[in-house]
Amino acid sequence: MKQISGKNLVLIGFMGTGKTEVARLLADLLNRRLVDMDKLIEQREGRSVTEIFQARGEKYFRQLEKQLVLELVTRRRLVIATGGGVVLDQDNAAALRQTGLVVWLDADLATLQERLKDDETRPLLKKETDLAALYQARLPFYQAAAHAKVDTVGKLLRTVATEILEISAQNA
Ligand code: S3P
Repeated sequence: MKQISGKNLVLIGFMGTGKTEVARLLADLLNRRLVDMDKLIEQREGRSVTEIFQARGEKYFRQLEKQLVLELVTRRRLVIATGGGVVLDQDNAAALRQTGLVVWLDADLATLQERLKDDETRPLLKKETDLAALYQARLPFYQAAAHAKVDTVGKLLRTVATEILEISAQNA
């Protein structure tokens, strides 16, 4: 397989599309450093994303995400698992696209509903959340930010990772 470029490999997509797990596998396969944005924010803040939302609000969390994007785009050869809302910000999306290959992991709504139904770690998934509306509202942002899209439904992590490696090789 052709060597992939030194650009960052950036995974975007809705909650529950497997960004974290696929990024971990890709980092292993490529021998690259993994940055999971939510995890790094949690480590630095000393509390979970849910706690950050509760204590400081979503706006503060989005500021942390934006600062972290600015930091990450100065680096190379990273595999980055973004949080599902990172590319709602146009500056974030543009910066990630300029410095990396942005791959959108997708799944259909029914699959996401199933994967997320018992989740208690994501502050946006409150009982009253209309997941379908949120998903629909997000699609154009993922579409605009991505260089390529990979459907994750019914696929092993390994298969998704292999597809991303193929896309990376084509875009090297
Ligand atoms: C969010 C997705 C979460 C996390 C936060 C907000 C979003 O990340 O960043 O709860 O706005 O979609 P995951 O996509 O990893 O769940």
